[in-house]
Amino acid sequence: MTAVETPNTYDALMQTLKWRRSIRKFTDEPVSDEELYKIIDAAHYAMSGANSQPWEFIVIKDKETMQKLRFVYENDDYQFTYWLEQQRDPKYRHPYFNYPPEEMEEQMKRATGWADAPAMIAIVCDPRKQFGSVLSARANLADGSVSVLSCTMGHVSMLTQLAAASLGLSSARIDTNSQDGYREVLGLPEPMRLYTMVPVGHRAYQPGPPRRLPTEDLIHYERYDANRLMTGAKFLEHLDMIRGASKGSYGGGKPKD
Ligand SMILES: Cc1cc2nc3c(=O)[nH]c(=O)nc-3n(C[C@H](O)[C@H](O)[C@H](O)COP(=O)(O)O)c2cc1C
Repeated sequence: MTAVETPNTYDALMQTLKWRRSIRKFTDEPVSDEELYKIIDAAHYAMSGANSQPWEFIVIKDKETMQKLRFVYENDDYQFTYWLEQQRDPKYRHPYFNYPPEEMEEQMKRATGWADAPAMIAIVCDPRKQFGSVLSARANLADGSVSVLSCTMGHVSMLTQLAAASLGLSSARIDTNSQDGYREVLGLPEPMRLYTMVPVGHRAYQPGPPRRLPTEDLIHYERYDANRLMTGAKFLEHLDMIRGASKGSYGGGKPKD
């Protein structure tokens, strides 16, 4: 195996990190097969629990398939989340789902702008590869719930989007709750699972600068500084900030109060 030269690419990495945004509407400009190959080639260098590499990728360019995915999303996922969000105080609902039921059809069209992207990379996983590696990969007791499989798949999806950004392409991450409809459209056999869908294309709008908490607020030295633990009131402020900020980028949640 050839040695890889020590990099000194922090500035380039920062530029790519800041330019990558979740973009939910794309122009008609196509994405080449070579670009899609390069994205996947980069993404599969992601870390994985026990180097299990449980990921595979389905590249989709066919418009009809994209519309079938949109249909499944609208019918199996979007409505479910909409009604779930109605269970809580409108103030805290995700802005995507904060409108009256009679506006659902119109809002759904906005929510699925990703389906008009020139390409999509569906990231799928083979859970056997991860679960077969280390028994503790089935449950990560450190955080009480998230399996190592989810963490691993999070890494590969992040790298997919980062690789796209490094080529000047934009992307998003479209998470799904259901499996069956997508499984049928994508011809996905058991025990494979759809993890997430990543539309890829050229951005149809310029997002504002990325919004992140100040770095210094996140760092503790030697021991956790409990005096800086977020209070309940501060947490609500934070929630308000992220909800308010995402209204625009999600294209139209209308708070009722
Ligand atoms: C685990 C996870 C799930 C996400 N699910 C979705 C999704 O279903 N739809 C979507 O449009 N964006 C989704 N996002 C994107 C986030 O909303 C986005 O990363 C965040 O608002 C920060 O914005 P940025 O990516 O433009 O920096 C998801 C991100 C992560 C990490």
